Amino acid sequence: MPLTITPLSNVLAAEATGVDLREPLDDATAEALNHAFNSHAVLCIRDQHLDPGQYVAAASLFGEPVQQVNRYSRFPEFPEIGILTGDTRDSRGERIINGATWHTDHSFTKQPPLGTILYAVVIPDKGGATSFCDMRAAYQALDDDMKRRVDGLKAVHAYESSRSPRRMAPRTEEEVAETPDVVHPLVRKHPRTGDPALYMSTTRLDHIVDLDREDSNALVDTLLAHATQPEFIYDHEWRVGDMLIWDNRCTMHHANGNYPIEEKRLMHRIMIEGEIPV
Ligand code: SIN
Repeated sequence: MPLTITPLSNVLAAEATGVDLREPLDDATAEALNHAFNSHAVLCIRDQHLDPGQYVAAASLFGEPVQQVNRYSRFPEFPEIGILTGDTRDSRGERIINGATWHTDHSFTKQPPLGTILYAVVIPDKGGATSFCDMRAAYQALDDDMKRRVDGLKAVHAYESSRSPRRMAPRTEEEVAETPDVVHPLVRKHPRTGDPALYMSTTRLDHIVDLDREDSNALVDTLLAHATQPEFIYDHEWRVGDMLIWDNRCTMHHANGNYPIEEKRLMHRIMIEGEIPV
């Protein structure tokens, strides 16, 4: 079957069929997949059958896989793979959902990953979708006054911001030393397409540089409410064997914990080395 790329919504996301990532890819196919990733921002490659080593090799199609920051969730033989399960419970027996509020991955790092890949190993019968919003479209939909206001602003991102609606996994001393607070532009330019996009996260963006707290919080709240309107969102309903990459430079995403407590969900996550945001 030839490679086919089909959009999955009017805003962002496409699926690729007709490719088996266990096999070496020719240059044209690799280029077509990268082009689809850069233009659709979320690319789901369907029907894959990858063991962990094959998964790391397949991920390299999009760049250099990096080691996961948190040691506790690393796959033992492959530190590039993080294990995401719905099996973790809090002290009341409630499921802990990693990534349950809108964010872009690892914006607390100086050089955040350009993309994140999830490979769906076990999915629940119903629910457990991942939601994505298009921060390019959200920026474009701002009125000119707001564009002028946000262009050129910078924001401080922290491992767990003072605004964060959820608590992050505790870090070891070594992990803390590796991850001091950083400053990123509030609007970043996509290095491949040149598109400007809002660059934000509910959990990591702490405050806007040179604004007092009140003004900073008001602006961040307004922009987050704007960017997460339904017209900018695509919800991905997973199938086992989906290998899906999203672009952290121009999207936010969140996990949904709306599946029965007894059902399993297991994803293998890889992040791809990125650039310093500009
Ligand atoms: C994440 O936020 O990285 C996880 C998304 C998901 O599990 O759906």
